[in-house]
Amino acid sequence: MLHAGSRRGPVRAALAMCVGSSALGSGALNERSVETAHSFTGRMCAASRLEETRRPDSLFSDPLAYTLAGKEGRAQPMGGWIMVPRTRFGDDFLRDHYTRGARQLVLLGAGFDARAYRMSGLPELRVYEVDQKTTFEVKEPLLTGESLAVASRAAVATEFTRPGEWAAALLASGFDPAVPTVWLAEGLLMYLSAADAADLMKQVGQLSARGSAVFHDAVSAEYLNARVSVAGAPFIGASDEYVNMWRSIGGFGSGYAHDFRAIKVDRARRRIDVDRRWPEATAARCAGQQVVLFVEVEME
Ligand SMILES: C[S@@+](CC[C@H](N)C(=O)[O-])C[C@H]1O[C@@H](n2cnc3c(N)ncnc32)[C@H](O)[C@@H]1O
Repeated sequence: MLHAGSRRGPVRAALAMCVGSSALGSGALNERSVETAHSFTGRMCAASRLEETRRPDSLFSDPLAYTLAGKEGRAQPMGGWIMVPRTRFGDDFLRDHYTRGARQLVLLGAGFDARAYRMSGLPELRVYEVDQKTTFEVKEPLLTGESLAVASRAAVATEFTRPGEWAAALLASGFDPAVPTVWLAEGLLMYLSAADAADLMKQVGQLSARGSAVFHDAVSAEYLNARVSVAGAPFIGASDEYVNMWRSIGGFGSGYAHDFRAIKVDRARRRIDVDRRWPEATAARCAGQQVVLFVEVEME
């Protein structure tokens, strides 16, 4: 069962201003709150990256996580059980495909991700972060003065509920569909309707040069019966057929749906391993079961 944090009260109607303090002890920060429950889940994710960063055996380090989570996110971390394997899986996926020639990263539902600042060894990478406007209204001021670890970063403020809009905005921000791209959609698909997810897959397919690849987590169809809601953002997207959908709607080739239980956090070696004794989470295996999925597909 997925952790379903509860956020007290309704989605905040205004950008409230309050005073907090920086992890670096650099004094008071003006802390803005995000306006939507969905964007808030992004701050919860950053809070879990903060917790992981503070461990001596951490699987990644995110020095900006404290600031990006904000006071509101730090009060309600998403949970290391999903954030540690998912973040490290995404990091490894990105590095692997960079080695193979990918030079663009698109973070679909980027939230308060800081890969553009924290990932070394990817100097030619161009990063595009796609998320709601409220996310970037809060996030961008927090990044003022920070040094990029990659070639460039662009913030694309849009809505996946408006078909086609995000892809047009991505292109307008400089994204080149001829360049092999890594697409990471971490913690996103469960918040999109079936129609919006299908539109996303279609657009990603049309923008993916050969050699491009997608990684996302997701939940099986049975999860819809569980009526999960994270801090007021309900799970409305779930399927047993993600790999088939990426193929048929997005035009992708090979793909694999990991059963989340196969992803092992190895703290002694500070890495994750895939336990191949777990079979692929095919549609037949997911039917009627609550399964968390790690899905990867490639454009061949
Ligand atoms: C659970 S958070 C994950 C954030 C980030 N990927 C991470 O792992 O830290 C989900 C993100 O998706 C974004 N999101 C959800 N629904 C969206 C929509 N309809 N349009 C744009 N962004 C959306 C939220 O604003 C939020 O930042």
